[in-house]
Amino acid sequence: STLTSMVDEQPHEFRVATAAYRGPEVFAQEMEQVFYKTWIYLCHESEIANPGDFRSTQIGTRPVIVAKSREGNVHAFLNACTHRGATICREEKGNTRAFVCPYHGWSFRTSGELIGIPDEARYHENFDKSDKNLKPVPRIASYGGLVFGSFNPDVEDLEIFLGGAKQHIDIWLRRTAGSSYKVATSHKYGYEGNWKFQSENVYDGYHPGFVHRSAFNTVRKFEGSFENRALDVAVRQQGYTRGYPEGHGTLEAGAPLESGGIDPAVRQAYTDKLTALYGADGAAEVLTNRQFLIFPNLVIFDFNIRVIQPIAHDCTEVYSYPLLIEGAHDDINSNRMLDAQTRVGTAGILSADDIDVFAGGQNALKTEVFEWITLSRGLGKEEVKPDGERVGVYSDEAPQRAFWRKWCALMAAAS
Ligand code: FES
Ligand code: FE
Repeated sequence: STLTSMVDEQPHEFRVATAAYRGPEVFAQEMEQVFYKTWIYLCHESEIANPGDFRSTQIGTRPVIVAKSREGNVHAFLNACTHRGATICREEKGNTRAFVCPYHGWSFRTSGELIGIPDEARYHENFDKSDKNLKPVPRIASYGGLVFGSFNPDVEDLEIFLGGAKQHIDIWLRRTAGSSYKVATSHKYGYEGNWKFQSENVYDGYHPGFVHRSAFNTVRKFEGSFENRALDVAVRQQGYTRGYPEGHGTLEAGAPLESGGIDPAVRQAYTDKLTALYGADGAAEVLTNRQFLIFPNLVIFDFNIRVIQPIAHDCTEVYSYPLLIEGAHDDINSNRMLDAQTRVGTAGILSADDIDVFAGGQNALKTEVFEWITLSRGLGKEEVKPDGERVGVYSDEAPQRAFWRKWCALMAAAS
């Protein structure tokens, strides 16, 4: 089919057709075959900690509400009133006893059950309310505080889906030193380009030394800053990229991620606590800069979660959620907020560089003068493990290839 022919893998070269980033047809098919067939991140457990808490979000372009019921169960449903389809919840998050539709006032429990119709006596005595509950997302599951949902009732179990990414989530959780994460308020930005540009960029160790060079140089005067080290890492090509058969990928930079401003005694106490919990090697592993993509659109950094939200084939929004550590010293949490704001937030020094490239790439694709892009760095030179994990050096395109192999498998699957 034309879809399977969009990725061309040869021993010496891995190519993706530019058509995969272009046009409403491929985008519509991606919603059906990728976003509605696999697991998609919904929210963090800390955002719906109490009965009545809710978060509105999207799976693909479908609006979804995630809520905790009075009984303490997590539910997710389409954010559409079963009367005539109005958007029932217009707030991003909050706590409520019930969702009341703004159009004609139908009301629903946080479990999705229809409880009230104004002037109900005007309906026929046989009118059936029981099939007018909010339309549920058929599968919900969580791992490590990350809540996922799927519109595919037959989707594999979440842990099978996560596969090789599970160990990275586990390491990322150890950053809390035995405590837990709490999501702070979000930053949002958008760009006029395909959503996959951002997915491909998460673990791209090839670009920082180039597109971010001036950003790094700007902050270079801060001796020992992350930016300083990241540039060195990029130049020396230390660290690893990994791609997994499940489509996920990682970048491990081998340097602690920290903007500075932490009292040395506080930092030492934190490192000591990690060492006590996980040993010296374990602590070093936890303190390695780790950024990864859970296929297709969840980004996890040490200090931050990002959701890549497709809007149209040439329009994407990115929601960035700083993560605080419950009970940690204020220096540590302030530093995490600073990281999120100054680096990958709306006006982050790195985000601005990246989205400029994405928009430029999309603009170039409109011309249709070239047919293929190439993601071949490290191909044939990476280590291939028996379980299918592929390990490359810092600047290899191993995780991008894993992304596209999974994309292909889903897009080619029968509907
Ligand atoms: Fe919601 Fe009419 S559309 S009450
Ligand atoms: Fe970047």
